[in-house]
Amino acid sequence: MLVKPNAKQWINEGYIHIASTITICVVMSVSVFVLGTFVTNHYRRIVIPHDLYFPRLTAITQTKESSVYLCHETSRPSLISPSLDVVEFTNSTGFVDLWHSMSDDELMEKATNVPRVVEGPQKVAFMFLTRGSLPLGLLWERFFKGQEGLFSIYLHTSPDFNYEPSNSSVFYKRRIPSKHVQWGKPSMIDAERRLLANALLDFSNQRFILLSETCIPLFNFTTIYNYLINANQSFLSSFDDPRKIGRGRYNKRMGPTITLQDWRKGSQWFEITRELAVEIISDKLYYQVFQNNCWPPCYMDEHYLPTLVNKVRPNLTTNRTITWTDWSGGRSHPTTFRKIDITEAFLNRVRYEPGCTYNGGNSSICFLFARKFHPSTLEPLLKIVPGLFGFNP
Ligand SMILES: *[C@@H]1O[C@H](CO)[C@@H](O)[C@H](O)[C@H]1NC(C)=O
Ligand SMILES: *[C@@H]1O[C@H](CO)[C@@H](O)[C@H](O)[C@H]1NC(C)=O
Ligand SMILES: *[C@@H]1O[C@H](CO)[C@@H](O)[C@H](O)[C@H]1NC(C)=O
Ligand SMILES: *[C@@H]1O[C@H](CO)[C@@H](O)[C@H](O)[C@H]1NC(C)=O
Ligand SMILES: *[C@@H]1O[C@H](CO)[C@@H](O)[C@H](O)[C@H]1NC(C)=O
Ligand SMILES: *[C@@H]1O[C@H](CO)[C@@H](O)[C@H](O)[C@H]1NC(C)=O
Ligand SMILES: *[C@@H]1O[C@H](CO)[C@@H](O)[C@H](O)[C@H]1NC(C)=O
Repeated sequence: MLVKPNAKQWINEGYIHIASTITICVVMSVSVFVLGTFVTNHYRRIVIPHDLYFPRLTAITQTKESSVYLCHETSRPSLISPSLDVVEFTNSTGFVDLWHSMSDDELMEKATNVPRVVEGPQKVAFMFLTRGSLPLGLLWERFFKGQEGLFSIYLHTSPDFNYEPSNSSVFYKRRIPSKHVQWGKPSMIDAERRLLANALLDFSNQRFILLSETCIPLFNFTTIYNYLINANQSFLSSFDDPRKIGRGRYNKRMGPTITLQDWRKGSQWFEITRELAVEIISDKLYYQVFQNNCWPPCYMDEHYLPTLVNKVRPNLTTNRTITWTDWSGGRSHPTTFRKIDITEAFLNRVRYEPGCTYNGGNSSICFLFARKFHPSTLEPLLKIVPGLFGFNP
């Protein structure tokens, strides 16, 4: 069911136009810490986040069930008047500086008091959780071209990263005040909450999608926008995995607040509504329980949101993700696609993976985004994608 790349050859060519990006990332990666050594039920892994990508500490290992789940994984409006002391965020021209000096607590406080349901213009918030720059940024620039007013971008980078693109870029001044992230640790969830909170302050953001620097869109903006804005649920994956790598990670000390029956697993890469975003950043109770009791082989980014949503608002999500990942290698990291893998046939297989429902009906589209794509895929993607996705000239 999951698509395998045509070839596993790894190409080691240099690409001049991304060389500077790579240089920055290499310099940064040298400076990151060894996270630690974990002995799990099955593996002993030394986790060193040394590549450009988010290293997965663990996998939603590919099996019959989980590959099905990857696809089938499958309000209480409080109308507060938007007269709060909000940073100038409601202007959608894109040239609004997102920088502010609020602490995380002040930010969460402000963002939990935003209206959950808002009339007026509807934007999709694209929230990039990255280390540094976006190697596939040019593809995203192309994707967003001409769509001003329908999207907002938020970048959570390493706090040391302070490169600012030119003012013609959609990423210009879209960084939010960020902190260090340790992969698989609570600081990862903190970064996601920070992104959500910043994005909630713009009341026209209705849908919130979390992306990494290795993600690509699978359709053009119009198609993705319509799919999301018209969806009556969120796409946050949440499922009960009876195996050791699911229920086996539950810690009894989480009870009675979280029972084994409540325990869920899911992909980190979510797409949620405004209403669910407010629920998530409002949570203190379950966050505490996780922070105190979720240790390797329990990883907060794989269990916290799926369990939280199951506890507080289970029918706000379809329980499936819309970000495609290839776990078919059966390893603890998903496949990273390289230049040689990028063909129209490959992209179409991912674009039209069958078997999903949408707003209660069958849908020919399961996934709107995919990962993980190596910087070397930029060149073929820029060649193939405009024609394939039907980008406006
Ligand atoms: C956004 O701000 C600019 C400059 O402050 C202003 O000219 C423009 O009309 C505003 N746009 C909206 C949609 O409020
Ligand atoms: C963008 O930057 C250029 C020079 O770098 C400047 O001339 C121009 O006014 C800027 N445009 C905006 C909209 O700020
Ligand atoms: C959500 O679930 C509750 C029960 O937990 C049910 O009463 C309600 O109708 C459901 N809402 C929707 C929209 O399915
Ligand atoms: C998602 O899963 C929860 C339980 O984990 C369930 O209550 C809910 O109905 C499911 N939603 C859909 C759309 O199947
Ligand atoms: C979503 O919309 C579809 C079609 O209108 C409907 O059948 C389904 O019950 C809705 N689901 C929720 C959770 O509102
Ligand atoms: C949806 O798909 C399932 C199987 O994939 C099929 O049994 C069902 O009839 C389809 N429903 C509609 C409304 O087409
Ligand atoms: C997206 O593709 C559709 C056809 O699939 C086309 O009608 C639309 O104009 C395209 N939109 C953009 C922004 O490229």
